[in-house]
Amino acid sequence: DKGEYRHYMLKEIYEQPKVIKATTEGRITDSKVLEQALGTDAANLLENVRHVQIIACGTSYHAGMVARYWIEELAGVPCSVEVASEFRYRKHVIQPDTLFLCISQSGETADTLAALRQAKKAGFRAAMAICNVAGSSLVRESDLVIMTQAGPEIGVASTKAFTTQLTALLMFSLALARHNGLSEEREADIVRAIHQVPGQVNDVLALNSEIEEMSKAFMDKNHSLFLGRGSQYPVAMEGALKLKEISYIHAEAYPAGELKHGPLALVDSEMPVVTVAPNNELVEKLKSNLEEVRARGGELFVFADRAADVKAEAGLHVMQLPSVHEITAPIVYTVPLQLLSYHVAVLKGTDVDQPRNLAKSVTVE
Ligand code: M6R
Repeated sequence: DKGEYRHYMLKEIYEQPKVIKATTEGRITDSKVLEQALGTDAANLLENVRHVQIIACGTSYHAGMVARYWIEELAGVPCSVEVASEFRYRKHVIQPDTLFLCISQSGETADTLAALRQAKKAGFRAAMAICNVAGSSLVRESDLVIMTQAGPEIGVASTKAFTTQLTALLMFSLALARHNGLSEEREADIVRAIHQVPGQVNDVLALNSEIEEMSKAFMDKNHSLFLGRGSQYPVAMEGALKLKEISYIHAEAYPAGELKHGPLALVDSEMPVVTVAPNNELVEKLKSNLEEVRARGGELFVFADRAADVKAEAGLHVMQLPSVHEITAPIVYTVPLQLLSYHVAVLKGTDVDQPRNLAKSVTVE
């Protein structure tokens, strides 16, 4: 039931504060992650993990890419991330004491399951899953499972599944980090930041009409670029995926530093550039990069931390977001991009909840 909402996607975007909180419920205290709540055998399985191999598809793959930053930053454990359809068709080297981590909303994605089954033959320390559907094949075939509490996701474009995957992955990263020397202070600081996420997402949702206004600039465009740096690069990828899926506008994501290495040549008044969560220094760099295309009408849309004090000017549109902890920022910064693509799609009149050619769950290759 869509209730008061025009589309399931919008309803699911708005459910995020609630389902993110539900995903943390019983799993964190004020200051720490309760490791047993991630699985009775978690302590044993996470001890001596020397490498994490993440496998997923689509949006879930983007969640894995964010997690790589957390796992390497907080736990200091090397982490590789690969799309399932690539992993399963190449010869791969699984290092000793690898935790094999599959991320999937449905738990039935054919490529992800095939990758898991194949890896089992090759041998690894343990199979872990982040999943939204209890009793799914992925859940049944994994040793350690963190269920996201997103509830049923009806819209084909994944929204609340992604932000709850990130929430679960951050709790997992902290648990793993504790086995690898993370200090209690740092853990407490990040757990406090996790508690603030639902409220911060609410603050972003309050910008809905401003974002709707911004979406008009994209309606008649055929191409767009999304830029992000560090853990916001996968957020840019996810923003680009949302836009192409539901509005059919070609959207490409690049790490911000790559702009000058090629894509800048494409930028003109027909190619809006969206930038996620830059600090001042990065915005200055981007501005000077774009200077050269300004004359041709290049326009930059920046989603920035209020505290970064990025000022709007001709050709530079700024959406100010609440100040967030840098570790939890990818969760919060995802939400305005979801709203942006939603409104572009509504303006274009596409089928938001059931985009052409796509299925909710890809159970065949
Ligand atoms: O159920 P899964 O998380 O395994 O699905 C993976 C992808 O098919 C899925 O995320 C897809 O990319 C979404 N339509 C993205 O919005």
